[in-house]
Amino acid sequence: MNLDSSFYAKVLHNYEPQLSILREKTRLLNARLLTSFTPLQLVALTSLATALGIGLYRFLYGHDEDLPTRIKLAIFRLARRIPAVRQQITKARDDTLKSVYDSMAKSTKGHKFANALPQKGLTKDELLKKLEKYRNFERINYESGNVSGCVYKISTPSTTEIYNAVFELFGETNPLHADVFPDIRTMEAEVVRCVATMFHGDENACGTMTSGGTESLLMACKTYRDLAKSKGITKPEIIMPVTAHPAFNKACAYFKIKLIRIPVDPITLEVDLKKMRRAITRNTCMLVASAPNFPHGAIDPIEDISKIALEYGIPLHVDGCLGGFLIAFMDEAGFPLKPFDFRVPGVMSISCDTHKYGFTPKGASVILYRTPEIRVHQFYALGDWPGGIYASPSVAGSRSGYLIACCWATLMYYGHEGYVEETRKIIEVTRYIADGWSKIPGLRLLHNPDVSVVAAGSDIFNIYYLIDGMIAKGWHLNGLQNPAGIHIAITQLHTQAGVADRLLQDTRDCVAEILKSDNKNDTPTAVIYGTSQKVPDKSIVCDMAKLFIGACYETRIPSATKNE
Ligand SMILES: *Cc1c(COP(=O)(O)O)cnc(C)c1O
Ligand SMILES: *[C@@H]1O[C@H](CO)[C@@H](O)[C@H](O)[C@H]1NC(C)=O
Repeated sequence: MNLDSSFYAKVLHNYEPQLSILREKTRLLNARLLTSFTPLQLVALTSLATALGIGLYRFLYGHDEDLPTRIKLAIFRLARRIPAVRQQITKARDDTLKSVYDSMAKSTKGHKFANALPQKGLTKDELLKKLEKYRNFERINYESGNVSGCVYKISTPSTTEIYNAVFELFGETNPLHADVFPDIRTMEAEVVRCVATMFHGDENACGTMTSGGTESLLMACKTYRDLAKSKGITKPEIIMPVTAHPAFNKACAYFKIKLIRIPVDPITLEVDLKKMRRAITRNTCMLVASAPNFPHGAIDPIEDISKIALEYGIPLHVDGCLGGFLIAFMDEAGFPLKPFDFRVPGVMSISCDTHKYGFTPKGASVILYRTPEIRVHQFYALGDWPGGIYASPSVAGSRSGYLIACCWATLMYYGHEGYVEETRKIIEVTRYIADGWSKIPGLRLLHNPDVSVVAAGSDIFNIYYLIDGMIAKGWHLNGLQNPAGIHIAITQLHTQAGVADRLLQDTRDCVAEILKSDNKNDTPTAVIYGTSQKVPDKSIVCDMAKLFIGACYETRIPSATKNE
């Protein structure tokens, strides 16, 4: 329709009586305003009102945190100015650093750190000797199955031989230059396609490889942020259960996405679907479900979340980073699951770590999308760079073709039947341990293990004593918080003969000892976990964690240099 000005003139003419009243009212108001204020005052007042309005809007809506959280943070900031509090924090800092340095000095005893390149390069023999020396640092022997998660595979002579052969053939490749390395390009495409098929992807299903679960999740968040932006959403938001992996929090922090975390029921630990639905706004760009999550090993109600996702037209991402290579084979291994993959219509993407239960060396994961139209938002391209047209699929620029080839080789080495068999063994051991733990008086399973994680808590003793007790017996399990708990992620290493029974016997002994001792001396770990649960100002806990990371890069450890 083409409306010209005469049309508006005609419309306005119809409203002439009302308009003349309006004109008269405006004239009176103007006259009154000008008798009460000078023009300069009017300008100043208007500016002030506008500034206050903008300020109020920013205060209410211009933040990633909600108002109560911000008030809490402001109080913490003030509290940290109190000298007594500051002193305590400084002391905690010093204690943390000291204990970190002590344990580092212990494991690297007598080591002379390199602080500059050797003036002359080492010979091969010198180098091999040095490598041997580093390898002999005192470290936790994960191979015996005493550690939760961490390394998921048993290293055998034949896999080592395969990886050595892969290195000889593809060690020096870089898939950033897909034209130079058609071999690696093909292997990556095949890995992605094979994993897509595992998750019932149709011929449109597609994806890329990444360096690990974190990069896969970073990419999923970036993809949906940009998909939302292409639809005009300027402030995208992600909604996820609080139990989802921190890589989502990291992605939102890196990519300026607002993150809304939905609590789980304190008893069932299931995500509150009503709250999830209520959190949806027109800015929501992605919903998240884990299959399973890391803390309790529970699979979120994917079909229910998918229904919500479809109802509002929001893409659902399933984080199968941890258990992807188990859930895909559980039906055939004799442990049937409800649908969790592309069979569920709202599921638009799935992340799956080949470097966990795919048993490939660390540095390999897969991110899948239902269609190429979604995936294209993951890619990055720059058209006007003086160095030429630049494009890359994921966070990395240059990548290791070696890790892709190792991943391809591992998938082909196990094959479908191999993975079904490994899945069967791992789930059997998981259920065996869960059954054993559930029968220990004082211990309570936090959740029935859906996949490969067993999590437990206690209603009668501080569960962190158990972590400490188990460390004393040679075990390294994970501590959980909100609610407090302990967990073990069962890997191939725990399927070795005798490991599960050893774990159960030691847990039974440990719990019995804790229950017997009426004087429950605060053990160091229990104090650290217990305290960090009690410290309301989580930024202090984060400061300590960052202190630890920084310390790991220290090559001038005070006591170690003395030992030289
Ligand atoms: C391990 C894990 C990730 C992240 O994987 P990384 O490979 O450590 O980066 C993501 N989600 C879940 C549930 C995980 O357990
Ligand atoms: C593993 O745990 C057992 C206790 O069951 C312990 O005896 C053994 O020393 C531990 N192994 C290692 C390498 O720490």
